[in-house]
Amino acid sequence: MANQFDVIILGGGPAGYVGAIRSAQLGMTTAVIERDKLGGVCVNIGCIPTKALLHSAYIAKLLREAKEFGVDAGLVKTDYGVAMQRSRRVSDQNSKGVEFLMKKNKITVVKGNGVLQPGRKVKVGSDIYEASRAVIIATGSRVKGLPQIGLEINKTTVISSDEALFLEKAPATLAIIGAGAVGMEFADIFSAFGTTVTLIEALPRILPLEDAEASDALAKSYKKRGIEVIAGAKVKQGTPAKDKVTLEVEANGATRKIEVAAVLMAAGRAVNTENIGLAECGVQVSERGFIKVDPGLQTTAPGYYAIGDVAGPPMLAHKGMREGVNVTELVAGKKPHAIRYDNVPSVTYCHPEVASIGLTEDQCKERKLEYVAGRFPFSANGRARGTGETEGFVKILRDKKYGEILGAHLVGGHASEIIHELAVARENEYTVEEVELAIHAHPTMSEAVAQAALDSLGRVVDM
Ligand code: NAI
Repeated sequence: MANQFDVIILGGGPAGYVGAIRSAQLGMTTAVIERDKLGGVCVNIGCIPTKALLHSAYIAKLLREAKEFGVDAGLVKTDYGVAMQRSRRVSDQNSKGVEFLMKKNKITVVKGNGVLQPGRKVKVGSDIYEASRAVIIATGSRVKGLPQIGLEINKTTVISSDEALFLEKAPATLAIIGAGAVGMEFADIFSAFGTTVTLIEALPRILPLEDAEASDALAKSYKKRGIEVIAGAKVKQGTPAKDKVTLEVEANGATRKIEVAAVLMAAGRAVNTENIGLAECGVQVSERGFIKVDPGLQTTAPGYYAIGDVAGPPMLAHKGMREGVNVTELVAGKKPHAIRYDNVPSVTYCHPEVASIGLTEDQCKERKLEYVAGRFPFSANGRARGTGETEGFVKILRDKKYGEILGAHLVGGHASEIIHELAVARENEYTVEEVELAIHAHPTMSEAVAQAALDSLGRVVDM
């Protein structure tokens, strides 16, 4: 039968398309059902285009500082529209790349909105598709506004990352609500393109899930660049008008009015679990709205699995991708390495970059763990001095007794790349001592990792 597959995946984002490829590699006939472009939020309106824009922002920053390096770039002019168009080309190339991978692996791509049906079936329009082994739900997440305080996304003055990625011009003034990864990255981008940015965060510090020292370093760095950071703030009301928005913000015991050309909502995302037939198939969701899954990523309905954002936090592409691989290996009867959810790196690609893995120092304290914090600042690292990327540090939290790497926190240039040394170490249960034993090339930013390791052992060597 033409509509019969071993595995059907609902959603062609990073979790879904990677799962589909692994499924096909394992010899299972596979279909992906996608209503929009392949690659999902990550490729089209998330990870990939933002990284292109962040690089444009970084180039602007470098050129502004170039004189000090003996390069006079003259007056630096920026054009957000041009940067946006480039980021679209990058996204489109990536989406086409995913299309190519589907063809190469002989995966059937069904265009349309899929709705689950009992008996491992999915309905698309009037067609029914049937899976003999598994239906995998990978429908992802979407932006959300705060209609309860007047901030429903209207796509003109109250926007989300979805619209910010398609603007032809950077707004003159912008308030960003939420200082998680989305808020931090867009504050970096728009500030580099000349926008006056106000970053508003409800919790007492920006990037609240990161180590407090990382948050503090970023807050200092952003303030230095002229980004206003208001943490511990409550937006009581937003009043959008034709070409401006007025915000009533309560912070430090006082209420103030902020008037901006646009507001960017970055206060979290909602999962796409509505109207896809979950209840009809017996697939339950948790109180927080995520699909309930067991350690094998199976939902409460046998034969239905869930991966990626819908299956719970962290809502990160790389977590979803790994789940895509694991779930299809399990369906194929293999025994994959269990996913260590406590070892998923977290990266915010603003400048300086923030990367972390494992516990924060506060979490170590809450758990009453005996630890030593080893630190090394990039201002003392030769390579960082050479490139002028002296902001930030490496901090390693070492278990006092066994030397386990409880957590690692990086702020600085290339932190997004350097973190993986510690991810590999933790995955393999190397001790802090074992990380330092590996000779680190000189001069590199990575030497700061070795030095932070040594610092936690009381043996730091300044370079
Ligand atoms: P988030 O949940 O990471 O951060 C939202 C922030 O908004 C939180 O700090 C929260 O305290 C704050 N907030 C919530 N309500 C607020 C209010 N009324 N007023 C002020 N602040 C408020 O969500 P975000 O940044 O929107 O990202 C969504 C998801 O996408 C996250 O899971 C994130 O990790 C992921 N993502 C990852 C990226 C990366 O890995 N670089 C980049 C972008 C998104």
